[in-house]
Amino acid sequence: MSPVAIVTGAGAGIGQATARMLYERGHRVLAADVAEEALAWTTEVPDVIPFVGDVSTEGANEAMVAAARKAWGRLDVMVLNAGIARRTHWTADDAVEAFDRIMAVNARGVVLGIRHGAPAIAESGGGAIVVVGSTSGVRADPERFAYDASKAAAINAARAAALDWAIRGVRVNVMAPGPTMTGILQGGRVSAEHLAELTRNIPLQRMGTPEEQAEAICFLASPAASFITGAVLMCDGGVTAQAGIFPPPLKENA
Ligand SMILES: NC(=O)c1ccc[n+]([C@@H]2O[C@H](COP(=O)([O-])OP(=O)(O)OC[C@H]3O[C@@H](n4cnc5c(N)ncnc54)[C@H](O)[C@@H]3O)[C@@H](O)[C@H]2O)c1
Repeated sequence: MSPVAIVTGAGAGIGQATARMLYERGHRVLAADVAEEALAWTTEVPDVIPFVGDVSTEGANEAMVAAARKAWGRLDVMVLNAGIARRTHWTADDAVEAFDRIMAVNARGVVLGIRHGAPAIAESGGGAIVVVGSTSGVRADPERFAYDASKAAAINAARAAALDWAIRGVRVNVMAPGPTMTGILQGGRVSAEHLAELTRNIPLQRMGTPEEQAEAICFLASPAASFITGAVLMCDGGVTAQAGIFPPPLKENA
């Protein structure tokens, strides 16, 4: 029987690439997103059903798990990918509000997803949860304290869940992307100058693609990763391998 997966934030970027890849590899997929219009792509794909909801609410998490089980009677994989990012300055008027919202989506959303998804996966005989973290959850970025805190929280919640759910056959891992060309970095939210600077600091000298991130997620979700739980897989072009105090090497010296 083909496995059933839920992917959150499946309307765009890494989430959409993952939902498509899981479908192409034989899963039935519930594609969840807060933006209804972003899920239009699901109408072209059989065995992918859209679900509109905000992962920061308990009701949406409960309902998305119920919807997958109602449609297909089981749940095998959950990819907790939905996330938001924005610059935050410590002294800005809206700093606390921004922190609360980013934590609500990126950390609370992951906790709620595990809370409702893990029991359903266990009842289906075991499976996998993949949390999408970030290099920002294991290192820090300037002017992004809220995002950095939210991703660190998501990563350690996933590790704790790996310990708590192993006994019921649910593996929980983190796939931590580095800079990846998606809406989160496009659309003028990050300046062209900043993007060029980012790329210079990536050892592989380029951004990742959503499909490269989806490959790493699909690996952790698959039986090929059957002895891996509580792990953080960096998919970052080498970003977190560096201490960050020296400029990248010149090609001729490499
Ligand atoms: N792109 C990068 O460079 C990068 C780097 C590290 C980590 N990440 C992480 O990867 C994940 C996916 O990012 P992306 O780059 O594909 O982003 P994206 O902005 O392209 O897509 C994110 C999707 O999540 C949805 N979403 C946002 N808030 C939601 C909510 N409350 N409930 C449900 N859905 C919601 C959006 O509508 C959107 O469709 C995020 O967790 C992000 O933090 C991205």
